[in-house]
Amino acid sequence: MKVLIAGGAGYIGSTIASACSDAGISPVILDSLVTGRREFTAGRPFYQGDIADGPLVDRIFAEHSDIDAVVHCAALIVVPDSVADPVGYYRANVAKSLEFAAHLLRNGCGRLIFSSSAAIYRAGQDLTVDEGSPVDPQSPYARTKAVCEAMLADIAASKPIRMLSLRYFNPVGADPKMRTGLQSRRPTHALGKMIQAHEEGVPFVITGTDWPTRDGSGLRDYVHVWDLAAAHVAALTRFDALPGPVTVINLGSGAGTTVRELLAAFNEVADQPVEAGEAGSRPGDVAGAYTRIGCAERILGWRARYDIADGIRHSLQWAAIRDEILPQ
Ligand SMILES: NC(=O)c1ccc[n+]([C@@H]2O[C@H](COP(=O)([O-])OP(=O)(O)OC[C@H]3O[C@@H](n4cnc5c(N)ncnc54)[C@H](O)[C@@H]3O)[C@@H](O)[C@H]2O)c1
Repeated sequence: MKVLIAGGAGYIGSTIASACSDAGISPVILDSLVTGRREFTAGRPFYQGDIADGPLVDRIFAEHSDIDAVVHCAALIVVPDSVADPVGYYRANVAKSLEFAAHLLRNGCGRLIFSSSAAIYRAGQDLTVDEGSPVDPQSPYARTKAVCEAMLADIAASKPIRMLSLRYFNPVGADPKMRTGLQSRRPTHALGKMIQAHEEGVPFVITGTDWPTRDGSGLRDYVHVWDLAAAHVAALTRFDALPGPVTVINLGSGAGTTVRELLAAFNEVADQPVEAGEAGSRPGDVAGAYTRIGCAERILGWRARYDIADGIRHSLQWAAIRDEILPQ
């Protein structure tokens, strides 16, 4: 089997590519390198360019006529940037995905896996969601994901292409074999900031301490990036058995972890403990949510295998070698 991975030089896409290779599926990478890294494409057929570039997509399919499916991870993903530049975000994530879909149809691609996000949900009072929960995105970034899902579903309803939307929760960790990890030296999510506080010997600041969670800090569903990648392998393998032309599946661990719990888990794994400071929540912050699992297990035979300690350990290992693998 051969798969085209758009955005395959990024954090998640490159991990999917490694999981595919390990499972005997050949990845072909299309990436503009706007945030991705050439180093992550080493040893793989790599086309540098934009998903909206029709002649380039035609060339890829001409040179790889045996592509069976496409995984579409290519997007801009920084929430505050999407607030500052909504035009740029809708263009990059929605308009280009529409062009890409047209190029895929023209080239006879019938199987598409779309990287969506749990950020599109409005969580219930118990902070759990499932695939039937209300979609109510709270940022331009999250809205681009919801719009893309709806757009691709409309296309799949009447054209010869089937679409699987995988809604990721909060990815952590790195490839356990340390081939790839987060490109950014200064990730802005809670675990990234903990690692930074650990490196600098300063306290980690918990932003928001009066959320309706068991300890007042925000709650997330952390899912190891290798587990995410493994779910794509399962989805590619079972694609033709999906229930309909459009399928939506949540990819999370099924457990909610608060920021205080994440810090406690971090301090179990790290050599030097990080102290906690406290501050108010930031504009746009939310209490968070975690997924009810069941759908992924039933349809893909998948569930997360790595726990939060594995995610922290692999993130720390990656942070220690990142500069060797990705000079500057
Ligand atoms: N990281 C998260 O927390 C998270 C959570 C939920 C969903 N997602 C989704 O997962 C996908 C991958 O995210 P990531 O964390 O790996 O981000 P990333 O920035 O590491 O990867 C995105 C990749 O897409 C490429 N790209 C962007 N626009 C492109 C274009 N127009 N043409 C070609 N290549 C392009 C970038 O160069 C990069 O390699 C995204 O679609 C994102 O919305 C990410």
